[in-house]
Amino acid sequence: MKGESIMKGFTLSPNLLLGTATAATQIEGGDTNCNWYHWSLRGKIKNNENSLMGSGHYERLEKDIELMKTLHQDTYRMSIEWSRIAPAKGQWSKEGIEFYIHELTLLKEAGIIPLVTLLHFSCPQWVEEEGAWLNPKTITYFIEFVEKVIVTCGHLITDYCTINEPNVFVNSTYMEGTFPGGRNGDTGAYFKASKHLILAHLHAYKAIHRIRSEQQFKGETKVGFAHHLTVLETGSKNPLTVMSKNLMDYAFHGLFFKGMVEGKLTFPLGHSYPLGKGTYCDFFGINYYSRHMIHSSWNPSSLFGKLGIYDGLPSESYNDLGWEIYPHGLGQVIEDTYKKYPMPIYITENGICDATDEKRSLFIYTHLKQLQKVMDRGIPVERYYHWSLMDNFEWHEGYEPEFGLIHIDYESMERHVRPSGYFYGEICENKAITDDMLLRHFSQEGDVHHVK
Ligand code: FCB
Repeated sequence: MKGESIMKGFTLSPNLLLGTATAATQIEGGDTNCNWYHWSLRGKIKNNENSLMGSGHYERLEKDIELMKTLHQDTYRMSIEWSRIAPAKGQWSKEGIEFYIHELTLLKEAGIIPLVTLLHFSCPQWVEEEGAWLNPKTITYFIEFVEKVIVTCGHLITDYCTINEPNVFVNSTYMEGTFPGGRNGDTGAYFKASKHLILAHLHAYKAIHRIRSEQQFKGETKVGFAHHLTVLETGSKNPLTVMSKNLMDYAFHGLFFKGMVEGKLTFPLGHSYPLGKGTYCDFFGINYYSRHMIHSSWNPSSLFGKLGIYDGLPSESYNDLGWEIYPHGLGQVIEDTYKKYPMPIYITENGICDATDEKRSLFIYTHLKQLQKVMDRGIPVERYYHWSLMDNFEWHEGYEPEFGLIHIDYESMERHVRPSGYFYGEICENKAITDDMLLRHFSQEGDVHHVK
């Protein structure tokens, strides 16, 4: 087929650190103070499931870090659950802090560098009850939490990701209504919360650097955030659709680029640099999964567009949730970002929901190939985190979607490394995909050795 080539091995840059990513609410289990637990109790999760189970990670920390070692991980992106540190208003939990000190110490002993996310979609229920990110006070509460983390655990963390996907958070919460506090098509709330999240990031960026330098912690401090970037396309040149694409690109991507990186509030959030002009990221974190198609609509509250998928492709081009697998897009979003902001790039998430594991190894191969291509052009991609280390609680979708390199049997909580997990582990060990690995791995699975 035109544009296809036979799969060949290739070498990755030895400086690229490879790892996996997770988030506390999705894997830990057992936290009744988290807003997702209360959202679950209201029947808001598919099949009436509950975040309380997670992947049982809280009880199996040692085992999971052993598995990371088996898979030769250089680095691990994890998050600290705010509600474990601040379970009630004005209260700090010694047990919560000790849990993360223990986890970070084990990672250190295993030689795995942590990248710690401070806000990954969840918050304590008491914060939710006060209006969460629609309430400006949440910025103060969040910064108090961040300071507590740095003062107590900062000696074990040099790399921070303040906020995960602020754009997905506000979209799912205020436009789609699928996250706690859910509302439908509330554009006002979308922008109000976006502004508060941007301010929270800017203050957190400053606070982390200030405390780390005051306390003279060893090691360079690196702070960034994880932006969800998708490739937006239109099926037609219809001016309404094109306008909608530009509006969506701005509301979903541009607003946060300006705010989180440059410290600038732009329309409709304001016209100022609330903490002064500067660069508020030491690296740029990209979460990349898919490409979207925009169809026009007459609904102004959805910015005159409807997000859809690129349909009509063969079934191997979609994951279990119906998201298109589009490796080329990874290279594209990296290049576009680097043109705007020439700073080190971390791929903070990239992965596939694939319960049978038939597509995951090829996904890893094609996406890493894109990564190496842009690195060969001189773009400093420094890290790649595969989403996810293990199957987990996929927010409102519950436990059905399986993104893990490690399969979780939810009955017994047993862990089984999938073939793609071993494949990725071998890549991490060798910083290469050799022809021999391809032959061994793909011939066993009977995969077609042609890739775009
Ligand atoms: C991202 C989220 C992550 C996970 C993956 C599949 O948007 O950051 O927690 O749900 O999608």
